[in-house]
Amino acid sequence: MVQVSASLLAANFAQMERDVQRAQDAGVDSFHVDFMDGHYVPNLALAPSLLEALAPTTELPFQVHLELSNPNELLDTFGSFPADMIIVQWDTCPDPLACFERIRSRHARVGLGLLASTPVEPILPLLNQVDMLLLLGVDPGFGGQAMHEEILSWLAQVRSIVDRESATVTIAVDGGVKASNAAKVVAAGANVLIMGSGLFDATDMKEIVRTLKDLKS
Ligand code: DX5
Ligand code: ZN
Repeated sequence: MVQVSASLLAANFAQMERDVQRAQDAGVDSFHVDFMDGHYVPNLALAPSLLEALAPTTELPFQVHLELSNPNELLDTFGSFPADMIIVQWDTCPDPLACFERIRSRHARVGLGLLASTPVEPILPLLNQVDMLLLLGVDPGFGGQAMHEEILSWLAQVRSIVDRESATVTIAVDGGVKASNAAKVVAAGANVLIMGSGLFDATDMKEIVRTLKDLKS
């Protein structure tokens, strides 16, 4: 079944607890939380202290997406924060295995984020070391952008490699996923949909989540 992760970048920051509850009631599986450093991406956003504050308000897990230049250093200096999964961008990890080790030592699962330009071949040896591949559908940094449609053929290519290698990694798409294109994204091979504005800007979030979870690959 398709999993839906609600990206909190699109929530109303003045009503965070209410929006977390709204998404939980709508049936999402997890929350996606972007940490942005103003360097890897031209934006600053969200932080460990937000997760500390929100964790007691929900039973759902948090998946933290590190959109920052130096995940290795920051993973060492970040205090503890609740995260079921930590996703690092492949192009920020010169030594991916060391980075994964740091993440696992925090008792979190490992996600690997790929920009649309990322070639797939260098990722092959890492497939069995990660729990989720995250394919960005937009240039990272901001919510509410339109998905680059070219990513669908790249996604299909990644899906066929994952299946060929019999890897158990899940494949997520992050950025630009909407109710209107989700069927295409799932048909191309994603089984996790990360969605910000498409969920939080909707009038009937529950109906959207129900439709997304019924999609078949
Ligand atoms: C983009 C972020 C996404 C973003 C998705 O840099 O990684 O998680 O919040 O937002 P939407 O779904 O609005 O494109
Ligand atoms: Zn993200």
